Amino acid sequence: MKSKTPKLRELVDGVSSYYIIGNIVILSPKKRDIDKEKLVKAIMQINPRVKAVYIKRKVSGELRISELELIGGEDISKTIFKENGLSFVVDIKKVYVNPSLGGEHNKVEEEVKESEKILDAFCGYGGIAMHASTVSKYVIAGDLNIEGLEMLRESLSLNRKKIHLIDIVQYDAHNLPFREKSFDKVYADNPTMVLEFLNELCRVTREELIIYILSTKGGISKIPAYKWLRVNDYSKDLFIFKGYIRCNNKNLSLTSLS
Ligand SMILES: C[S@@+](CC[C@H](N)C(=O)[O-])C[C@H]1O[C@@H](n2cnc3c(N)ncnc32)[C@H](O)[C@@H]1O
Repeated sequence: MKSKTPKLRELVDGVSSYYIIGNIVILSPKKRDIDKEKLVKAIMQINPRVKAVYIKRKVSGELRISELELIGGEDISKTIFKENGLSFVVDIKKVYVNPSLGGEHNKVEEEVKESEKILDAFCGYGGIAMHASTVSKYVIAGDLNIEGLEMLRESLSLNRKKIHLIDIVQYDAHNLPFREKSFDKVYADNPTMVLEFLNELCRVTREELIIYILSTKGGISKIPAYKWLRVNDYSKDLFIFKGYIRCNNKNLSLTSLS
């Protein structure tokens, strides 16, 4: 009889879920006092391809980089992972990586059209840009984090047959280096900070600005989006919402949602 692969929670108390990014595992255990050695052994037993196991402590700073503790395996942080058939080079210590966004990235392919000019305004390692580029012929990916942009450049060569051209630009999105209404659609995935960029993002948007924002249910009522979707639960009262805004000369100078 074939033996069943044990679930992690059956092997280690207090840890049930984790992310696999290429050959690296990242966990956010609920309990502090876990048996790390047992945990690493259990993960590597379930996933023999895994080379390094990290605990994520928190995400901080404007580049949204994770504080990570290596608890077992090799001291590696750069890997290649697959999302919806696309390959991404990422260094988990140098760029924001959240594999739970795979579903959101996939939706981008359904939202964009071949002829549309798209800006991924806070691209990180380029998840949105790359998915948009499987459909749109004109995508620009920008971010403050030059190391994330270099990872995207490496990823482009791995996906040549699946995507169109992507231009990569480093900038501070407070002053985007583009003329008025340069893009049909702009994606702004920077949920903790997006408010301070709204007017500048709208300046370069012709049709539709799509934002992700961390907010309470009531908070988002101040932003004039014509459609809201709740995409993730962050805590009891805080959620990640996705808002669709038509930019036509609206003043979006908001500093807080409270
Ligand atoms: C939540 S992460 C982006 C995630 C990414 N869209 C994805 O799909 O994985 C937010 C990004 O905003 C970038 N960022 C923060 N402040 C910025 C600024 N002033 N100008 C440009 N990018 C900025 C960070 O470097 C980070 O990559």
